[in-house]
Amino acid sequence: MTAPLYEALIKYVEDGTMPYHMPGHKEGKIISRKYIENIAKIDVTEVPGTDNLHDPHGPILEAERLAAKAFGAKSSFFLVNGTTCGIYAAMSSVLNDGDMVVVQRNSHRSVYNGLILTGAIPIYIEPLMDDEDAIAMGISIDELEKLLIKHKNVKAVVITYPNYYGFCVDINKVVDLVHKYDKVLIVDEAHGAHFAFSDRLPLSASKAGADIVIESVHKTLPAFTQSSILHVNTDRIDIDRLRFYLSLYQSTSPSYILMTSIDLARDFMEREGKALLDKCLDLSIQARRLINEIDGVRCIGDDVIGKYGIYDYDATKLTINVSGLGISGSVAESILREKFNIQMEMSDYRNILAIMTVADDEASFDKLIESVKGLSEYKRNEKLSYFDGNGCPEIPEMAMKPKDAVNKEYRYVSMDDAVGMVSLDYVIPYPPGVPLLCPGELIKKDMVQYIKLLYNIGIKVIGIDNLKIRVCK
Ligand SMILES: Cc1ncc(COP(=O)(O)O)c(C=O)c1O
Repeated sequence: MTAPLYEALIKYVEDGTMPYHMPGHKEGKIISRKYIENIAKIDVTEVPGTDNLHDPHGPILEAERLAAKAFGAKSSFFLVNGTTCGIYAAMSSVLNDGDMVVVQRNSHRSVYNGLILTGAIPIYIEPLMDDEDAIAMGISIDELEKLLIKHKNVKAVVITYPNYYGFCVDINKVVDLVHKYDKVLIVDEAHGAHFAFSDRLPLSASKAGADIVIESVHKTLPAFTQSSILHVNTDRIDIDRLRFYLSLYQSTSPSYILMTSIDLARDFMEREGKALLDKCLDLSIQARRLINEIDGVRCIGDDVIGKYGIYDYDATKLTINVSGLGISGSVAESILREKFNIQMEMSDYRNILAIMTVADDEASFDKLIESVKGLSEYKRNEKLSYFDGNGCPEIPEMAMKPKDAVNKEYRYVSMDDAVGMVSLDYVIPYPPGVPLLCPGELIKKDMVQYIKLLYNIGIKVIGIDNLKIRVCK
């Protein structure tokens, strides 16, 4: 047998690495045996009785109706190409070429791609930075209101709720404000599909009344990767137009495995979700306490409430700042994998992130705490260079909209030669993952100096290759 990808995945499983990453079913722990046994058999197509995702009248429609009820939405649509395609469809259903839209500057790539697809013009809102943890947190509601007053023609607002680390703005306030100015609110709730199933988690944006909410079922619930869901909660949305774009961005042969995976995850959560989330939250809260007793590490949580626009957080996400050990998050992540055989969801400059779900149990929590304790053996007496984003230039002037920029002819130039030119790429430093330049933005001298500074102190900057950048001709 020669199947390198399959063999690599089987190796990962056989190595017994404990997963603290998505998908939420954690290697099938809570996927029903009967489903797994029948998985190849139910991989069918549109035949009488199986319905059609693009024109549902039978079991798919019924499954979507049950999902809407369970997630607290007015209507719900299954997605087989992740939240990514849901964001494209949501933006396309609301925005025309040249329309203005308020977008959080630290949005996921799919929102930026949505700008390219629609030809909409972004008005950016800067995220508020937690400099100590080097994380882009929430947004200022006052700042959002100022933007809505200043740009009367804005058609929609796109926000991320929660952020990757589980931190949340006050969604009720955002919904009220956006609706006060009669705009459409699109919420990227990729990391919050579980919110609807526990009162101990932050409020879901659907329950708060956001117009469109898109969630990755696969990230936090027991469903296969790429299964997501889009909810519509108000009459502001033209459902026919939305359906058109959902069909445009998804396969004409949508996977029945993915669609049933969403259906079953909803059913499982309705029957067992609340109890299992209670258990997961109890263990997460205890884990936070124990991790905070370990020297050199800190689990971020209550300490950021009321700061950086943060109102609430998802306790099942354990964001652990390891900078007190004198190592970066990415070094800690590698040590945890190599020496302790556990895999984090991700790491950044200062933090590691573990995602706990309804598939976790006492054993996985114990293993995490024991491994984080073990990290102290690898403590270095180095002080991590403290990078607080100081001196970051303002959001650059937009010379042309993103859609026009990406279709231009281009060339690569050195950063120094790029002054006065228009960027064709995103330039994004990690952390905090907030773009410094987006396609169509004018490159100024202070930006070049800043990017060189980041590059030279070893911050990973995406969009720069050997200090060369792609610019529009
Ligand atoms: C904030 C955010 N939005 C959207 C997405 C895209 O979701 P999906 O992977 O389900 O397409 C991601 C994926 O990582 C994300 O982190």
